[in-house]
Amino acid sequence: MGMNVDKVTIRGGRPLVGRIEVKGAKNLVTKAMVAALLGETPSLLKDVPNISDVRIVRGLLEVHGVKVTEGDEPGDMILDPVDVESAHFAAIDAHAGSSRIPILFCGPLLHRLGEAFIPDLGGCRIGDRPIDFHLEVLRKFGAVVEKQPNGIRMSAPNGLKGAKLELPYPSVGATEQVLLTAVRADGITELKNAAIEPEIMDLIHILQKMGAIITVDTDRVIRIEGVDKLDGYTHRALFDRNEAASWAAAALATQGDIFVGGARQPEMLTFLNVFRKVGGAFDIHDDGIRFYHPGGDLKPVIIETDVHPGFMTDWQQPLVIALTQAHGTSIVHETVYEQRFGFVDALVKMGATIQIHRECLGGHPCRFGQRNFNHSAVITGPTKLYGADIEVPDLRGGFSHLIAALTAEGSSTVSNVGIISRGYENFITKLRLLGADFDLEA
Ligand code: EPU
Repeated sequence: MGMNVDKVTIRGGRPLVGRIEVKGAKNLVTKAMVAALLGETPSLLKDVPNISDVRIVRGLLEVHGVKVTEGDEPGDMILDPVDVESAHFAAIDAHAGSSRIPILFCGPLLHRLGEAFIPDLGGCRIGDRPIDFHLEVLRKFGAVVEKQPNGIRMSAPNGLKGAKLELPYPSVGATEQVLLTAVRADGITELKNAAIEPEIMDLIHILQKMGAIITVDTDRVIRIEGVDKLDGYTHRALFDRNEAASWAAAALATQGDIFVGGARQPEMLTFLNVFRKVGGAFDIHDDGIRFYHPGGDLKPVIIETDVHPGFMTDWQQPLVIALTQAHGTSIVHETVYEQRFGFVDALVKMGATIQIHRECLGGHPCRFGQRNFNHSAVITGPTKLYGADIEVPDLRGGFSHLIAALTAEGSSTVSNVGIISRGYENFITKLRLLGADFDLEA
């Protein structure tokens, strides 16, 4: 798709029907690219999607001397870290504010170069998104952390040593931080209350291919024995289950039928249960999953987002559009991010009945309940949606806006759609393949 597309005018009310393919998961591929920094030989990553978050990480790797080239097959990326070097402040700073991945460069750069500079972080505005867990674990490995006006400078004057760690919350990023640092640290690291998302397990598979020794226990405990040397890896990235769930939600809301090539059942188990409870149907095939609206009324559900194996926070935004079409009252209690309902204003403008509450409405109190965060949504349906001019607020909220426009009667103009290409490869081409009726504006 043209990356300079800013607005899409969608004439809604047509079911999305057809087949699309998903490639490697954004939330694995970007970390796998950073892992390549730890190898003494080049790595080959397969199924890399052409999305802007990948281009950002590629740029950051390149300013640190990693040679990044395409391989033989589409989606192949070769990462050669043999000449890793310190980057100039200006070159790193040019990437400031564009992604949260730079924080994961700390461990590998400290091992390779003894120092790291991390620019201020970007990413979606869906809450505070602090990095305190990251800094805390890095300090425990022996890093010296110094805040500077535009970012954070780190050094490891005495090298990095294995540590006993426990996260206050099973953070995906902080768990990855520990993995990427501990594999080459001196001695044994034990991490309690680790995140165990499939993308993290796939990163562990990659690190094991490189020579790491990592044990995952059943109780969120990960043990890592540091090794002296890691090699490059060859790995096909885990499919993007967030993208797959997004297209599934689009099929349901538009009364469509979408075959998502590359999607697999095990990593989507929790999503599939909820999809079925809402009234969606799916068929599991060897090469993908068919998601469709089987006719009949959609049913309301109560969802609480959670860390794996719970219902992922990234799945709720697209699914809420289908819930506006369900007969009855649904509740979505967001327990991972404190502000992930910014996208509903546009839906209300289009005719949805959605109220946002500060209380924990799902049944289980969460850490946001006492803190005045608007983190529970009550959705009453079915409501007809009507076309409107709406603006994309963040990645997943943006995709949900596209679904809303595709579901609505009449024409909608969705602006700021560039954000969506951070995480959805060729979404414009895919929409066309599925029969959506739209025009693009630069
Ligand atoms: N948190 C802290 N301190 C920290 C780190 C996290 O308080 O130092 C809090 C966060 O504020 C949040 C919670 O812990 O409330 C969970 O955050 P986590 O660290 O797990 O999230 P992340 O690593 O920043 C990744 C994905 C997100 C996905 C979450 C949850 C990437 C690049 N991002 O974020 O994906 O929603 O895990 O699974 O992997 C997206 O793809 O649109 C996206 C936002």
